Amino acid sequence: MSEQPITTDVPYVDTAQIDPNQPEADALVLFGATGDLAKRKLFPSLYKLERSNTLDVPVIGVARSDWTDDDFRTHARESIEAHVDDADDEIISSLSDRLDLIQGDYADEATWEELRDTLDRHGSETAVFYMAIPPSIFPMVAEKLASVGLNERGRIVVEKPFGRDLDSAVELNQTLHSVFPEDHIFRIDHYLGKEAVEDLLVFRFANTLLEPVWNRNYVRSVQVTMSETIGVEGRGSFYEGVGAIRDVLQNHLLQVIALLAMEPPAGPDARFLQDEKAKVISAMRPIECSQMVRGQYVGYRDEDGVADDSSVETFAAVRLEIDSWRWAGVPWYVRVGKGLAENATEAVIELREPPRMLFDEAGSPPPERNLIRLRLGKNDGVTFALQAKTPGPSLDSQEVDVDVDFAAALGERQDAYERLLGDALVGSLRRFARQDVVEGTWAIVQPALDEPGEIFPYFRDSWGPSEADNILEPGDHWYP
Ligand code: NDP
Ligand code: BG6
Repeated sequence: MSEQPITTDVPYVDTAQIDPNQPEADALVLFGATGDLAKRKLFPSLYKLERSNTLDVPVIGVARSDWTDDDFRTHARESIEAHVDDADDEIISSLSDRLDLIQGDYADEATWEELRDTLDRHGSETAVFYMAIPPSIFPMVAEKLASVGLNERGRIVVEKPFGRDLDSAVELNQTLHSVFPEDHIFRIDHYLGKEAVEDLLVFRFANTLLEPVWNRNYVRSVQVTMSETIGVEGRGSFYEGVGAIRDVLQNHLLQVIALLAMEPPAGPDARFLQDEKAKVISAMRPIECSQMVRGQYVGYRDEDGVADDSSVETFAAVRLEIDSWRWAGVPWYVRVGKGLAENATEAVIELREPPRMLFDEAGSPPPERNLIRLRLGKNDGVTFALQAKTPGPSLDSQEVDVDVDFAAALGERQDAYERLLGDALVGSLRRFARQDVVEGTWAIVQPALDEPGEIFPYFRDSWGPSEADNILEPGDHWYP
């Protein structure tokens, strides 16, 4: 064991990933500084960056709310204290010293001029413009930045959702491209900031043990699950316009699948990684509606902001296929949902049976299939479910688990938003989503949006509607 445990004080920067064409940012502009995302994720992440001495720029909030600089600083402090255990007062104070607020209406030219003047005053040439605002105003903000020449002086970070279908994603890309080049557009998918998701790359391509079996010859099926026990938690009106497919399948889950299925990139550059993802996404067939089951938990329609006759899905199970040399014929089963029995984000790689059942004595159960279970949520780690001889006179086998808990083995994980904010500041695109990949993922889910079909009720704390079994091949079952 040579590695030091990772701690939150380790600087976020992977220097090998800094794009030499992207200068480091010298200011961070936070649109939507008064909002929920800023409160829950961005201020705590800024605190952590400050703590590791890797935040060295002014942070300029922009808000329509009638706040002063002091209100903004107090709000940031309260957000940090609410979301970071044992937050250090001195670190909060040094972060506070970086904070300024521009208060004004987005429709008012004076707001944009004030922003430009403030950046001038700080001597900023390369700012990060973080859009923590409703997606409906991403285009307007990008255009307003251009109206005062700030598109030439920085890059934008665009939050999810990136469009609500293929057409709107293409349209949004066109608008953003009319003012920012592609390599100045940082599309956030916070799953790409998770250490456990990024570990899929390392796990696959740093272990020669795996590559020989990581293909259609040895893999029988792959199951990817994102199950949450919570319901929509007061976000009913937001969720009504979204549903599980748009909320997490099109983005988080398809990004995870791309990392699981792609070919090795030619090198560590962001561009090589994005190229391989784009290839595998384009080899994925659009969802066939006959291979999809949508569900809705009983009680969803009683949530605030939800229609009495809502047909928005809180669960979806989909069978995907990848028409690549590596994966042809292997089913990729995907399940996402809220109000389910467990919190789990994981991928289960199910291997084929041995070619001969050598130990198939009369009355003996056949060995279970080997599984590689990659846990991507809070309890991240990996379990190899193998077979070993059951003690006794027979050659019967039983499952034994070889399990590693990454937190116990490797130390504390860095927070996804901390890493992504850090990446945006240093100009590393590796953990962001590229245009072709985003549009490709929308193309995969588009048939499910066009023809959503029936919706099946399920009880909370279950694994979703039993109809989800209908998309499994004979002999397959869902792994809990
Ligand atoms: P909020 O609804 O809290 O809005 C953020 C801020 O935007 C508000 O505080 C408001 O500030 C400003 N705002 C709202 N409407 C308008 C408008 N019409 N014109 C100009 N400003 C407006 O959003 P969130 O913070 O929840 O989310 C921000 C972004 O992050 C969204 O794109 C969301 O989809 C994404 N996101 C959010 C997550 C979350 O957990 N909250 C998770 C993942 C993504 P003011 O009026 O003071 O200017
Ligand atoms: C968000 C979705 O993108 O991801 C939420 O909008 C979901 O509905 C959340 O709960 C899950 O993120 P995590 O990091 O808790 O798995």
